Amino acid sequence: MQAIKVGLLGIGTVGSGTFNVLRRNQAEIRGRAGRGIEIAMVADLDVARAKSIVGDACEVVSDARQVIANPEIDIVIELIGGYGVAKTLVLEAIAAGKHVVTANKALLAVHGTEIFAAAHAKGVIVAFEAAVAGGIPIIKALREGLTANRIEWIAGIINGTTNFILSEMRGKGLDFATVLKEAQRLGYAEADPTFDIEGVDAAHKATIMSAIAFGIPVQFDKAHVEGITQLQAADIKYAEQLGYRIKLLGLTRRRENGIELRVHPTLIPANRLIANVEGAMNAVVVQGDAVGTTLYYGKGAGSEPTASAVIADLVDITRLHTADPEHRVPHLAFRPDAISDTPILPMDQVLTSFYLRLRVADEAGVLSRITTILADNDISIDAVLQRESAEGEKQTDLIILTHETVEGRMNKALALMQALPTVLAPIVRLRKEELA
Ligand code: HSE
Repeated sequence: MQAIKVGLLGIGTVGSGTFNVLRRNQAEIRGRAGRGIEIAMVADLDVARAKSIVGDACEVVSDARQVIANPEIDIVIELIGGYGVAKTLVLEAIAAGKHVVTANKALLAVHGTEIFAAAHAKGVIVAFEAAVAGGIPIIKALREGLTANRIEWIAGIINGTTNFILSEMRGKGLDFATVLKEAQRLGYAEADPTFDIEGVDAAHKATIMSAIAFGIPVQFDKAHVEGITQLQAADIKYAEQLGYRIKLLGLTRRRENGIELRVHPTLIPANRLIANVEGAMNAVVVQGDAVGTTLYYGKGAGSEPTASAVIADLVDITRLHTADPEHRVPHLAFRPDAISDTPILPMDQVLTSFYLRLRVADEAGVLSRITTILADNDISIDAVLQRESAEGEKQTDLIILTHETVEGRMNKALALMQALPTVLAPIVRLRKEELA
């Protein structure tokens, strides 16, 4: 049988990885897909560079619309990124009856509802394994492997840049700004790292996982997004003394009254496997009612790891594109008529435990006034650590770990504690998850 023809929009890092892996592993891929998969056309603004990658293997053009208009092309891979031209091209490809493979988490987290509806109406597949955690097949796991389960929660280290920075901060005792500069010098962080360090990239990925896990629409605008830019070396050290590591987690959890969807630095027990995921690696823990806890680990970015996910989607489409659309795996795991309107909970209704660091006057009664405020707000203390003051020093750091409470209640207690004259600096508040 003739190879299925693929058009590639954007041949940067992931595109060139896709081209190379498809060529290198073509015999295996043909054996698995039932026919060859051939990149027949590439569109890239830098035609000369694109030609230097693909040689004479396929046609290279600068206009993506030529790829979409080519009747020979069955599948369009979108690797342009962003919400702008990528969205227009994906919708045009769908309208032209092409199946689409994309690694574009931002596009799907923000415009997924519109894109999946368009694809459903047209009977084409939009596949996006590469959009979440790069080479880790987490979409496949959530959508198919765990399909028997009622998913309870997902917690993921889903941004390699920030995990690299946090690992370096902990390992070398350095502050955020110093490590960020080093990460940029080594190529681990982009020249403009905003989306990574502010938690936006992780929130895009968490939004997509949340939709698939709980059968809700993608709702990036409802996600709580907090990055690592304010994180201080002192808190990483204190957390470690208390048996915790700080990771930027993407978390989504089913509660009785709705779904939590949040990204923020999080203390997790140092003995959890996911706490030991270091450097630029990614990992996702999924808790299902039947399977229990499962863990997925691997490279979340990079040329060939991400290409691995893109090609998995190409193989899936090659196998399934002739199947009746009603018998394919739904885009968001649940059939469109089974998508629910379960709300995403506002942060003040989120249930979590806390790490607090208070700079306090080292004098009688300070601790008791603070614990009284916590008790009055029904917040139970799990552990307290008071750093020994240096000789002659009149202030000290007081670290408090709490049990689970509703965040709104903690905010009220924090305001009262902050108003105490013996609390001498803004209180540091981090969330803590036991992931039990
Ligand atoms: N910038 C991302 C990361 C990779 O640092 O993990 C692509 O999502």
